Amino acid sequence: MTRIAIYPGSFDPPTRGHEDLARRAVGMVDRLIVAIAINPNKQPLFSVEERLAFLSTALGDDPRIEFASFSGLLADFAREREAHIVVRGLRAVSDFEYEFQMALMNRRLNRDLETVFLVPAVDLTYLSSSLVREAARFGGNLEGLVHPMVQEALSARFRT
Ligand code: PNS
Repeated sequence: MTRIAIYPGSFDPPTRGHEDLARRAVGMVDRLIVAIAINPNKQPLFSVEERLAFLSTALGDDPRIEFASFSGLLADFAREREAHIVVRGLRAVSDFEYEFQMALMNRRLNRDLETVFLVPAVDLTYLSSSLVREAARFGGNLEGLVHPMVQEALSARFRT
């Protein structure tokens, strides 16, 4: 049986923390689908196409990783892709409550789905897409925190 996992998220934009987690996750399965959730209630900084391009540039060297986007429920997308594992990152205790609720809800919606939590490299634990967007907005140096392609796109987005 092929073990397929989904690593879902907004990835707006992907950070080195996301990359680190995807590379750790893929070592545990046969195939990893990094999937961008399309949320009609959110106004993302980058389009789905841009985010897919960032992810495939940063992680596309590994043939076991594929990239996708989905609308609607993760539980349904997992069923459609025959994935039985969801991978999520836990950076701090503050992540736990939301992640715990989401894991249980996803299992309720799809009883064949298990959520696995991974911790990122310790020097990336404080990193989040929202902090990256905020720092970029005010001209902060993001070297080492995001892929150079993302860094370039952020500079272009906030250039006046
Ligand atoms: O990177 P994020 O924003 O923390 O990711 C959250 C995400 C996209 C994984 C979560 O919001 C999600 O799975 N959205 C799809 C809708 C869904 O299935 N929600 C959870 C059960 S109601």
